[in-house]
Amino acid sequence: MELRRANKDDCRDLYEWRNSPSARQNSLDQREIPYEDHVQWFEGSLNNKNRTIYIALEGNKKVGQIRFDLEEINLAKVSVTVKPEEQGKGYGPKIIEEGSNKYFSETGVSMIRAEIRQENVPSVKAFEKAGYKFFGESKGVLEYILKNG
Ligand SMILES: CC(C)(COP(=O)(O)OP(=O)(O)OC[C@H]1O[C@@H](n2cnc3c(N)ncnc32)[C@H](O)[C@@H]1OP(=O)(O)O)[C@@H](O)C(=O)NCCC(=O)NCCS
Repeated sequence: MELRRANKDDCRDLYEWRNSPSARQNSLDQREIPYEDHVQWFEGSLNNKNRTIYIALEGNKKVGQIRFDLEEINLAKVSVTVKPEEQGKGYGPKIIEEGSNKYFSETGVSMIRAEIRQENVPSVKAFEKAGYKFFGESKGVLEYILKNG
């Protein structure tokens, strides 16, 4: 699997993955997003130095995305989506593990956190397989942490 930075040609794919029923159901924000809003958000994201989006490719097929948002000097929050047709095939843990390592090495940030709805068992398993550790729970949202090294 290869990970590369997102670019403007990924706009539509990210929109479709984000608005798919499985992604919306598991997201903390479940609203359906109008495409125009997504385009604005995505263009802003590409120019935002505190946000890093990688696209995961298997051969030349896009299988998912992983995004890191810098929240504090040494702490980022992660969000991941596997393309709906590619879910359940083991890509999620690989994207999370390889994406996190790439982010650590490209940025020098040393801690990443994930927020997962507790009913999202595939996501909990995927983050655990990628080495994330349970940190705490609040109002049905689990927090998982990965430290570099
Ligand atoms: C959560 C997600 C990233 C996991 O990635 P994935 O590539 O599907 O992960 P895996 O293939 O390793 O599957 C994870 C586990 O869930 C299980 N699973 C069961 N039904 C599944 C389904 N419909 N889809 C995916 N996984 C399923 C898998 O069997 C696996 O369990 P196992 O380790 O016991 O075999 C991916 O499913 C996804 O993008 N979901 C929608 C968005 C989302 O929830 N993002 C995370 C928000 S915190």
